[in-house]
Amino acid sequence: MKKNYIDFDEYPQTAEIHNRCVNMLCSLFNAPLKEEEEGTGTGTIGSSEAIMLAGLAMKWKWQQRRKSKDLSTDKPNLICGSNVQVCWHKMCRYFDIECREASVSPDCLVLTAERAKALIDENTIGVCAILGSTFNGQFENVKEIHDMVVELNNKNDWEIPIHVDAASGGFIAPFIHPELEWDFRLPMVKSINVSGHKFGLVYAGIGWVLFREKQDLPDELVFHVNYLGGDQASFTLNFSRGASGIVGQYYQFLRLGHSGYTQVMENGMKTAQYLRGIIKDIGMFDIVDTADMPLVAFSLKNTKYCTVFDLQDHLRGRGWIVPAYSCSKGAESLNIMRVVVKQNFTTDLADLLVRDLIAALHHFEQFPAHDSSTMKDKESAFTEANAKHKSEAATKKLWRDAVALLQRKNNHRTDDIKTHGVC
Ligand SMILES: Cc1ncc(COP(=O)(O)O)c(C=O)c1O
Repeated sequence: MKKNYIDFDEYPQTAEIHNRCVNMLCSLFNAPLKEEEEGTGTGTIGSSEAIMLAGLAMKWKWQQRRKSKDLSTDKPNLICGSNVQVCWHKMCRYFDIECREASVSPDCLVLTAERAKALIDENTIGVCAILGSTFNGQFENVKEIHDMVVELNNKNDWEIPIHVDAASGGFIAPFIHPELEWDFRLPMVKSINVSGHKFGLVYAGIGWVLFREKQDLPDELVFHVNYLGGDQASFTLNFSRGASGIVGQYYQFLRLGHSGYTQVMENGMKTAQYLRGIIKDIGMFDIVDTADMPLVAFSLKNTKYCTVFDLQDHLRGRGWIVPAYSCSKGAESLNIMRVVVKQNFTTDLADLLVRDLIAALHHFEQFPAHDSSTMKDKESAFTEANAKHKSEAATKKLWRDAVALLQRKNNHRTDDIKTHGVC
């Protein structure tokens, strides 16, 4: 933890460990490496930095191709679904790239080949496909998107690459769905990012960007140091960083191996399947994940008594952090709750979560979250306070008192539920 990764001179073995991780990941993702050939990629702080680097590589490659044909390089664009994680928006904004987002729809929450095709043109630097959408964990159909891009490239003499954002799925698909073609087996998949600190099973602060072949990373973006006696390529946004994430990743690779990761992922998938089954059986939710990952995403069938946001707040009171959020452009009206099943989330914990979820549903059935009298109480207390006391401090105090009063009322009601055995 106290070592600075970038001090190659002082800690040459950390650089060696880093390079071994890159090689292991490149072979896990089926990069076409010849015997003894080193993989191309780098450790990052997370998938966000990895995506910044991959975005830059795509932009530079596109500029080089355009310049060689004497064509303008003014308006680069990148194609993705509206379901991309915020780091894609950041990357496009920071590096002056137009982010062309395809809308999703409530019945299909991801990018499809058809949706992407409509947005691609000669200024497209790349297409992003996600393996494990943040919103519902769904794997986008990378092969279908790939084949569509290849067809367009052939027709128009383009060389548009695909980047796969495998932040979560990169450590799941190879172990759970090894037959799925999403990685460097597809020739136009030129780069992939994966988060070591998600299903890579390392603490926060480690991600990876990998390139299919050396030539997919423009030389201009790589800086070389020779402190080590040999050549160490450096391709990161930051200079200093802690070495622990890299060492931790290597430890997990050696400690667990392919079979260990497979066991952990299979176990997570089983627990997720168990939880998914019970949540479905409750009868009040629609499952919106596609069982691609150890993740359960669901929406409320009926919001008469409460929304997923109310459930989120209620569950927080029981110590559960279950995020609720509205879906991305094209499916904004769909509100989702998501449980990510990590290594330490057991079926016992799943049972406890379900128990609290059912108790929350009972609670809101008896005391609807949007009970008009409750809202009225709140509003009138607030209005009265406003009228009587112009000073901000006094208004705030009265508002706090009104809310506290309501909370006490609610607690009392919750006690009622408990004594009547609803929980
Ligand atoms: C699909 C996807 N891409 C990128 C990211 C950003 O990852 P990181 O937190 O490792 O920067 C996330 C994080 O949730 C994600 O789900």
